Amino acid sequence: MSLWEPPNLADVRVSYDSGQLGEEGLAGDPLTQFRQWWQDAAASDIPEPNAMVLATVDAAGRPTTRMVLLKGFDERGFVFFTNYHSRKAEQMAVNPHVSLCFPWYPLHRQVTVTGVSQRVSGAESEAYFRSRPKGSQLAAWASRQSEVIPNRAVLESRYQELAARWPAGVEPAVPDFWGGYLVVATTVEFWHGRESRLHDRLRFTANDGTAALDRPADWQLQRISP
Ligand SMILES: Cc1cc2nc3c(=O)[nH]c(=O)nc-3n(C[C@H](O)[C@H](O)[C@H](O)COP(=O)(O)O)c2cc1C
Repeated sequence: MSLWEPPNLADVRVSYDSGQLGEEGLAGDPLTQFRQWWQDAAASDIPEPNAMVLATVDAAGRPTTRMVLLKGFDERGFVFFTNYHSRKAEQMAVNPHVSLCFPWYPLHRQVTVTGVSQRVSGAESEAYFRSRPKGSQLAAWASRQSEVIPNRAVLESRYQELAARWPAGVEPAVPDFWGGYLVVATTVEFWHGRESRLHDRLRFTANDGTAALDRPADWQLQRISP
């Protein structure tokens, strides 16, 4: 019988030798560069390549992180959807500054964004809500996200009540407590792992705090020490 040996974490490391990121190969604006890396991530076998870490802070400046799904990006910024009464939403109401991290480390890549969050329009939230599977729509109604509940049965019975309210063929209403956020970027950093930890880091910083992602003139590019 062989016993499972826990790995010695000090010895767990990957060598990053799959490419590089140079100024000459970088797009002139963060949107074009992000789109190229997004296409590579989407074509790879990374599960849920649109999963990103969202960091927010509470009123006392204490950070929290969680995964959310990127549901769109364009010259305005990066869009995700959530419950407007959730912990993250309460935090963004107090302090809209957030950070995103795309953990594409199987490609030896990472993109990090700092920026300012704002709600998207009701029409944009509605359009996405209507595109979701019905089960997800009902779950958005059933979940008072981030609240303590006594047990799972509470959640499931709420779901069943809602399924009866909107039976097959009847479209659920769009909850007014649910919708999207747009993260308008202040910085977008592209990281590529290199041998011996001499990684490439190229960071776009918006000249005026925030800027349209597709306007090269509005961004300053700097190389950052790894
Ligand atoms: C891969 C993955 C994707 C997720 N996507 C979302 C999402 O798009 N929106 C969302 O509200 N929660 C999403 N979640 C759940 C969040 O991580 C989190 O548990 C939830 O939003 C509550 O966070 P909060 O209490 O900090 O507000 C996702 C979780 C995982 C693991």
